[in-house]
Amino acid sequence: MENKTNQIIQNATSEIEKAKTKQELFEINTHYLGKNGQVSLLMQELKNCSKEDRPRLGAILNECREKVDTLLKEKIKKLEDEELEQKLNAEKVDVTIPVKPIPFGINHPITIIQNLLTDFFVKRGFTVKFGTDIETDYYCFEALNVPKNHPARDAQDTFYINEETVLRTHTSATQIHTLEQQKPPIKMVSTGSTYRADEIDSTHSPFFHQLEILVVDEKVSMTDLKGIIEELAKFLFGDKTQIRLRPSYFPFTEPSAEVDATCTQCGGKGCSLCKGTGWIELLGCGMVNPKILENHGIDTNKYAGYAVGLGLERIAMLRYGISDLREFYENDVNFLKQFK
Ligand code: DAH
Repeated sequence: MENKTNQIIQNATSEIEKAKTKQELFEINTHYLGKNGQVSLLMQELKNCSKEDRPRLGAILNECREKVDTLLKEKIKKLEDEELEQKLNAEKVDVTIPVKPIPFGINHPITIIQNLLTDFFVKRGFTVKFGTDIETDYYCFEALNVPKNHPARDAQDTFYINEETVLRTHTSATQIHTLEQQKPPIKMVSTGSTYRADEIDSTHSPFFHQLEILVVDEKVSMTDLKGIIEELAKFLFGDKTQIRLRPSYFPFTEPSAEVDATCTQCGGKGCSLCKGTGWIELLGCGMVNPKILENHGIDTNKYAGYAVGLGLERIAMLRYGISDLREFYENDVNFLKQFK
């Protein structure tokens, strides 16, 4: 019996050593330790041995079983470790390889101008207000003193959602929301999308963007208005830029003005961009019509206000030298990626 178990251990040891897969080890396990395996067969032979020998031989057999079992387990562990090692080596990441550049998105030129101008006003103490694209006739026209028969209120010029609701034609509607929500002193800036029933061409689009500012405070005058616009024009187009105010008419301001800046292309000498005049139209502005302030409970003996509205596309076109408005909406990546 001892010889047989020694033989089994010897054979099993060499077979286990040679085994290269878990499947082979499984088969070795069955061959020696399985139900009909060699060790089990010897166990069955025990009953033919003498009673005195049985405990000793039983112990030898158990030892043999344990030895083979241990050898098998050790080898399985070894194979698994090797397998893991191989897997880790195969998946190794070389952290020193330079990364491929990740393409970052960039802001649309209108967004760039929007941020630039908002920043300009925020740095001067203005608070940012958000309006909505969909407005009622009241906020877009009525409360801004735009008379019922004004062409801007015509279905030809404005997108009506229903009789009372429109896509806002200008950001001026935000002035009214601000006046409803705040008491003077007021200094607000607001930008956003605006809509008009225009045909698309190189200078018109049914969808565009505006910026609005409203200031209401004591001792506010036309001089303050002119001062901030001049500062804005120099900020946008350089220190040499000059401005001029032309009398104009807006129902929500009195007096009203349109502001020109010296041509961004020729500096005022006259060129094709400014049609030889040396001036480029920049924005509309004026002193807030006292009727609007009074409608919101503001004492016009004490307070006055000024407001400005400008088109962001126009500013972007002048600043970047873009001649066709449609470029902004065609989403040609080659056009857009220039504005990094
Ligand atoms: N809302 C006017 C427009 O869309 C622009 C404008 C003019 C805004 C004068 C103002 C202003 O705040 O004072 O044409």
